[in-house]
Amino acid sequence: MFCVCHAIWLRNLLSKMMLKQAGATMIHVENKSAIELAKNPVNHERSKHIDVRFHFIRDHVKGGNVELVHVASQDQVADIFTKPLPKELLDKCKKMIGMMDGRSI
Ligand SMILES: *[C@@H]1O[C@H](CO)[C@@H](O)[C@H](O)[C@H]1NC(C)=O
Repeated sequence: MFCVCHAIWLRNLLSKMMLKQAGATMIHVENKSAIELAKNPVNHERSKHIDVRFHFIRDHVKGGNVELVHVASQDQVADIFTKPLPKELLDKCKKMIGMMDGRSI
């Protein structure tokens, strides 16, 4: 969930440019257990080694800077930037990010 770091960095940058964000930045997360860990890191004894990361995220959730929202795998539009996708999914993600087909202009 490096995107939380990126979101915080961008929010700080925008704030310095007098574009302070009013609400939390929505982070769409596929992994439900990751969301649970971020909400409640202390309850997971076996995952102590990743606590620091999740405490960082939880602090920013609590502080109202980011909001973690579950998203189904097939609706994870960020996948278009991170992995090869089958054509149908690629086309769907292209639509979701507003990427235009040059032929339709
Ligand atoms: C989901 O998140 C948990 C906690 O970070 C991690 O242990 C697990 O490997 C993740 N699962 C997937 C499929 O990424």
